[in-house]
Amino acid sequence: MKQNIRKIIGQGGNEFAGQDILSVDQFDREKLTYIFSLAAQMRELVERQGGTDLLKGRVLACLFYEPSTRTSSSFIAAMNRLGGTVIPITQGVQFSSVSKGETLPDTVRTLEQYADAIVLRHPKTGAAQIAADYATRPILNAGDGTGEHPTQALLDLFTIQEELGRVDGLHIAMAGDLKYGRTVHSLTRLLLEYDVSLSYVSPEILRLPLDLMNRVREQGVDVRETYNVADVIDSADVLYVTRVQKERFSDLSQYEEIKDFYEITPELMAQAKDEMIIMHPLPRVGEIHYGVDDDPRAAYFRQVRNGMFIRMALLAAVLGSA
Ligand code: NCD
Repeated sequence: MKQNIRKIIGQGGNEFAGQDILSVDQFDREKLTYIFSLAAQMRELVERQGGTDLLKGRVLACLFYEPSTRTSSSFIAAMNRLGGTVIPITQGVQFSSVSKGETLPDTVRTLEQYADAIVLRHPKTGAAQIAADYATRPILNAGDGTGEHPTQALLDLFTIQEELGRVDGLHIAMAGDLKYGRTVHSLTRLLLEYDVSLSYVSPEILRLPLDLMNRVREQGVDVRETYNVADVIDSADVLYVTRVQKERFSDLSQYEEIKDFYEITPELMAQAKDEMIIMHPLPRVGEIHYGVDDDPRAAYFRQVRNGMFIRMALLAAVLGSA
């Protein structure tokens, strides 16, 4: 069993042991390569034998203050396939003591009495950092408001690497809600580790936040913004589509105005390169026509599966030995 752990997480030491995963800023190319190679091993293990008992006896708490299908179930599946177990507070914290007014610091300090790590999704930007300030066990940020969604960005980048064989040299276009979409924020920051050109497609009111755009420009990245997906579809190697984040709007009439501002259709895909991929963190609410799903370039469900391998890799690294 010990040998097995060493074989998987590596002889050279594992810097992630016992660490929080709060932001993509924690990852440089070397760490990304490490996590991606772990994820590839996890895929092999799952495909060969369904899983492993690497984390037998370990417990993960999943604490979700916002709705989730993929992130929560992939963390649960990942932990189960590693032989560990889960305390799932994912079906609405309204049934937990949160509804009695318990604070986030108290909730995480309670859960860590039972669990070895906590996965947290929360509507407030910065909540994962607050939880980490109070908790002694690792916190894994599964989305904090409009801030970050680091595990999603890792699985997004892993998908690009797996599908296209490289990241450097690619033209990556992101479309949709660039203002509120935390997956876009995290993926953008992660891509700054690579030599890529970036395009951002959105209506005026949903443009990428200025501080992030400034960071992209400061790095000297070849970047452009446009309102029209047709401007980028023929040259994109990756088209990363997102949903308009209805829950973040204070004025719902504004949401109604722009919610249907574009749809990726088979006609539009006819203008795209043969060797490109279309991605989406999901859920989609009409941004990609169902007719695109059978196109081999539609990578979004393969992307979902990669999420489980990436989360297995992260859990093994964080909960495995140093
Ligand atoms: C995303 C999220 O929660 O930020 N979903 C996910 O985790 N795959 C994207 C979204 O909700 O639009």
